[in-house]
Amino acid sequence: ISLGIDLGTSELKAVLLDECGTVVAHAGIRLVISRPQAGWSEQDPENWWQACLAALQQLRQSQPDAYSRVRCIGLSGQMHGAVLLDQANRVLRPAILWDDSRAIAQAQWLHQEHPEFSEITGSLPMAGLTAPKLLWIKQYEPQVFSDISCVLSPKDYLRLRLTGERVSDMSDAAGTLWLDVRKRDWFEPMVQACGLQLSQLPRLVEGSAAAAGLNAEAAGQLGLRRQLLVAGGGGDNPVSAVGIGAIDAGHGFITLGTSAAIVAITGHVAGNPASAVHSFCHALPQRWYTMGAMLAGASCLRWVTNLLGQENEQTLLQMVEAGLPQTQPVSAAVPLFLPYLAGERTPHNDPLLRGGFMNLGYDSTAATLGYAVLEGVGFGLLDAMHAVHAAGATVGACALVGGGARSNYWAQLLSNIVDREIYTLSGSELSACIGAAKLGFLAYGRGGDLLQSGMPVKERFFPMLAQQPMLQARYQQFRGLLTAAQTLHD
Ligand code: XUL
Repeated sequence: ISLGIDLGTSELKAVLLDECGTVVAHAGIRLVISRPQAGWSEQDPENWWQACLAALQQLRQSQPDAYSRVRCIGLSGQMHGAVLLDQANRVLRPAILWDDSRAIAQAQWLHQEHPEFSEITGSLPMAGLTAPKLLWIKQYEPQVFSDISCVLSPKDYLRLRLTGERVSDMSDAAGTLWLDVRKRDWFEPMVQACGLQLSQLPRLVEGSAAAAGLNAEAAGQLGLRRQLLVAGGGGDNPVSAVGIGAIDAGHGFITLGTSAAIVAITGHVAGNPASAVHSFCHALPQRWYTMGAMLAGASCLRWVTNLLGQENEQTLLQMVEAGLPQTQPVSAAVPLFLPYLAGERTPHNDPLLRGGFMNLGYDSTAATLGYAVLEGVGFGLLDAMHAVHAAGATVGACALVGGGARSNYWAQLLSNIVDREIYTLSGSELSACIGAAKLGFLAYGRGGDLLQSGMPVKERFFPMLAQQPMLQARYQQFRGLLTAAQTLHD
């Protein structure tokens, strides 16, 4: 049995996976985010550890026999967070998360000073990535900065508590912006540009390699064997890719969670960071991926559901389906929606950009607003897909994962918008946990077959030709609204 742990932003999930790829048990513990100032997003790493203990306790209680047979652990987690530790591995301040935009000026400064670094690190400096956050700390919390002995990514903090060791993997390390993504090693000039030394960064391993063993304290607390192997693991998107079997060049998928992304696996580092894509290391050796990343995905649907006073997303989706059936083009009177509730990464790299509805009228209803949101997130993904193509990666048929994959209507609309086959998978809600558990097996010398196997296809969606002219026209209108949105925050 392999234990897979995914430290998400809103929930920590854990699974017990057997060697046939069957989920024997799963558990989840909700996490809270603190937003002490506008644009800030923080979590206390101690809460991650407590959630991890609670989730494992649930697994232990529900499947004591399988739990006692755990032989390896794999980790997945939200990317780009900064966990700052002192010499004794004590946390110096709350972790600053991926959707925190305080480091805008620092990201701009890094780009102006070192424009040539982006080709090496795989991405433009962006406020949400780790490196600019450290410059912010240096400027505004100099005492904390001078006490930093190590910077870890979120899931690597869990590993520290499990093993006592400071280790990261290539995929999460790429998300810091301190990695040379081709060499799969720290890129010292960028580390120094942030006022740090290599000695303040963790040791690196591949996601599928053994990173460290469970220490006596954690083994006792968790009721697991001492020295049990913890694999490198990786960032949530690449590890989800492993979970669904997107492991080779040409595989692609869309995630529709709190954030959204279109991801294409590549056998080399695709270029063109100028289009604001990330070309980062995969959680498997000798593989990379190019990702168009959106800051708000299915969270736009949750937001509008609450705003319209609907009970849940399902209720609103039913209204959309009844009012705007996909058998006919939507009317030109239906509103358009810009999905930039939290700014945008790909292709705009603008954390201050904000969203909006346009074309509202007395005839606008909850159903047409709901439709506009689904469509607007789809148009954002189409923008992201164009950027991924411009980087030289190819996107064919795409699996759809994340909470948004529960809606067939949305899946069909996305297929119509990106003009590709979209397919949903059974069990994809746990893709990151399952991917983590698979990486655990690989580190333990097992699971090679498991890696090749993906997840069973639930449903396939093909572009509806009759909808294309209408959607293409609306996409052009959507693009035309961008300038207006940009002028609002200058
Ligand atoms: C990826 C990204 C998010 C986080 C949180 O670049 O920022 O997907 O990993 O899920």
